[in-house]
Amino acid sequence: MNFFSKKANEILPYVPGEQPKDGEYIKLNTNENAYPPSQKVKKALDNLDVSRLKLYPDPESTILRETMAEILGLNKENIFVGNGSDEVLAIAFQTFFMEKDNILMPDISYSFYPVYSDMYNVKAKIVPLKDNFTIDINDYIVPNNGIIIANPNAPTSISLSRDEIEVIVKNNTNNVVIIDEAYVDFGGETVVSLINKYNNLLVIRTLSKSYSLAGLRVGFAIGNKELINGMNKIKNSFNSYPIDFIAQTLAVEAIKDVEYFDKTRNMIIDTKQRIKKQLENIGFTVLESKANFLFIMHKDKKAEDIYNDLRKNKVLVRFFNKPKINNWLRVTIGTDEQMDRFIKIIKEIVG
Ligand SMILES: Cc1ncc(COP(=O)(O)O)c(C=O)c1O
Repeated sequence: MNFFSKKANEILPYVPGEQPKDGEYIKLNTNENAYPPSQKVKKALDNLDVSRLKLYPDPESTILRETMAEILGLNKENIFVGNGSDEVLAIAFQTFFMEKDNILMPDISYSFYPVYSDMYNVKAKIVPLKDNFTIDINDYIVPNNGIIIANPNAPTSISLSRDEIEVIVKNNTNNVVIIDEAYVDFGGETVVSLINKYNNLLVIRTLSKSYSLAGLRVGFAIGNKELINGMNKIKNSFNSYPIDFIAQTLAVEAIKDVEYFDKTRNMIIDTKQRIKKQLENIGFTVLESKANFLFIMHKDKKAEDIYNDLRKNKVLVRFFNKPKINNWLRVTIGTDEQMDRFIKIIKEIVG
């Protein structure tokens, strides 16, 4: 007896990074923010009117979308919100790519894209990165039915410039180009300002990384009104209330605290530059990162061995046992204190 649909029988699900239960690890494996959310989030949570939970939340997340729009200099009609950018990506795949073929995406990128491709019967055309892990924009100026690129890319941390993305977008006016900017706040160049110039551009963002709210699950998409309306049709055919009342309330507070947002992301950028140099001094190649993580390879010692040795010392980083990147490690930038400990341990490991 097989109770399952063909899809449930066949799909290979995404595997999230490990979330250990005992807090004894230094957790540098899932690109969360090293710092807690804004104190304004804490205050709003402390003051939350619990009786409000008996009602459904605003299905349109109106105040949240207005707050995001104000920060970005856009209108709320340009904003779509979802339960983490993973859900926003799923809705975008269904809205723009479902059942289509020839959707371009890099071979090394966020590993949820191939899973959504399988889930929604998308035939992806996988485009290899160059040997130095950069994207050649000319590879995306070819016939296709849609494009998705993470910028900065993950796990490589490398970024294309705004001008380079614009070249891709303006050469694909018949197809939607999705730019996943999950990590853009840590040094990348956003293309949000181009959404009014190009009606085929959709930018996806998250509060999980630069706003320290991975546990709240809020992501958003930014695009022209027509693209956003299309996504709303799919959303309202799946889950009318993706953002609960608590998440809507707290997300608004986080976004409004621009000062704290700038302070913490700048702290992470500074720590990243310091750690990059220290790793280079002990024989690591470190790619030029515009994200809150580094992608590193040691000249002598195998990545898998370093990963296991770090683990034994209660430090978690991410190792991908995949072609082309199986000698690399992805290391999230933690606090200065965590990173000092990481450096001390990894120095001992690589001798
Ligand atoms: C490139 C990229 N996009 C999207 C996400 C999803 O983030 P979330 O669902 O927490 O918003 C991640 C998470 O690691 C990511 O690396």
